[in-house]
Amino acid sequence: MSGAAGLSVDVHLSATDLHRALEEDVRVGLTSRPKSIPPVWFYDEEGSRLFEVITTLDEYYPTRAERRLLELHSPAIAALAGADTLVELGAGACAKTRTLLDAMGEDGPLRRYLPFDVSDDFLRSAAAEVLEDYEGLEVHAVIGDFHRHLDRIPVVGIRLVAFLGGTIGNLTPDQRQRFFFDLNCSMLAGDHLLIGTDLVKDTRRIIAAYDDGAGVTAEFNRNMLRVLNEQLDADFVPELFEHLAVWNDAEQWIEMRLRSTAEQSIHINALDLEVHFEAGEEMLTEISAKFTPEQVADELIKADFVVDGQWGADEGDFLLTLAHPYC
Ligand code: SAH
Ligand code: AVI
Repeated sequence: MSGAAGLSVDVHLSATDLHRALEEDVRVGLTSRPKSIPPVWFYDEEGSRLFEVITTLDEYYPTRAERRLLELHSPAIAALAGADTLVELGAGACAKTRTLLDAMGEDGPLRRYLPFDVSDDFLRSAAAEVLEDYEGLEVHAVIGDFHRHLDRIPVVGIRLVAFLGGTIGNLTPDQRQRFFFDLNCSMLAGDHLLIGTDLVKDTRRIIAAYDDGAGVTAEFNRNMLRVLNEQLDADFVPELFEHLAVWNDAEQWIEMRLRSTAEQSIHINALDLEVHFEAGEEMLTEISAKFTPEQVADELIKADFVVDGQWGADEGDFLLTLAHPYC
């Protein structure tokens, strides 16, 4: 365990682990057809910063909608969960969570906050800010991958595990099923899960949210190429890739892609790999699934959760679902 004064940090992903995982994902993804790279590689320091800018854009409704739901319903959620420990998966800037922390602390048993994220430095500074702002709160950051390290969430107190922002939608249906099962296995009687999901709606609004007028999402998407250049000594010219946001109606998700504007070969020196792109060839970088309330409940029930409540279905933009493991 390490960390700045007062902040404890568990690291389950060393720089070497991360590097190996990136190598594997890039080798597999760029030698497959169609090419793809998993979205976890957006989030270096700059990617995390760009995501925070996205959350302030007019077109990007999910953050605003979820924050509003949290402001309205956190007291009820905190009362139902009765937790003294807030675990937050994919915590990022730990921003919206403060509303939950406030509700859990107001006449409630709140004792500790455990933010969990893959983005090491970004999480450390966000967690340090929470530590500074909440007197008496124990803050314990966990650096890990939620596809691999859910069993490392510290077993302490009565836990409310929050997975906000709609990040669950960035997982494929198979990954989601496994994630819910693994999470259920890591939870104890008395623990709860709070999950935020974006809802299906007018596809024009969804597309605009992923293709904003100021081009911030395009920069966020292309930032992944910069991560590969820096980490794997690759020679992508990001400007030669165009950002696309495409609605996939059959799957009910938006796809972010990067389209090569020219025929080109990329050298990924750390992998001793040369990758050819045709002009117009597209590479998938993210899916972001949109749900119905019934679908969210159904996926949780299939993973042996009991649904306690859903908030937001009537307002239509975003949904919070509280559940607990069936034990
Ligand atoms: N929860 C915040 C941030 C969402 S952005 C919000 O609602 O605004 C998605 C976050 O998930 C990023 O901070 C990113 O670093 C993290 N993340 C993405 N893939 C991850 C993985 N496999 N394991 C752990 N964290 C991950
Ligand atoms: C983190 N995740 C839920 C965001 C989303 O909306 O799928 C990532 C994002 N991609 C483009 N804009 C934001």
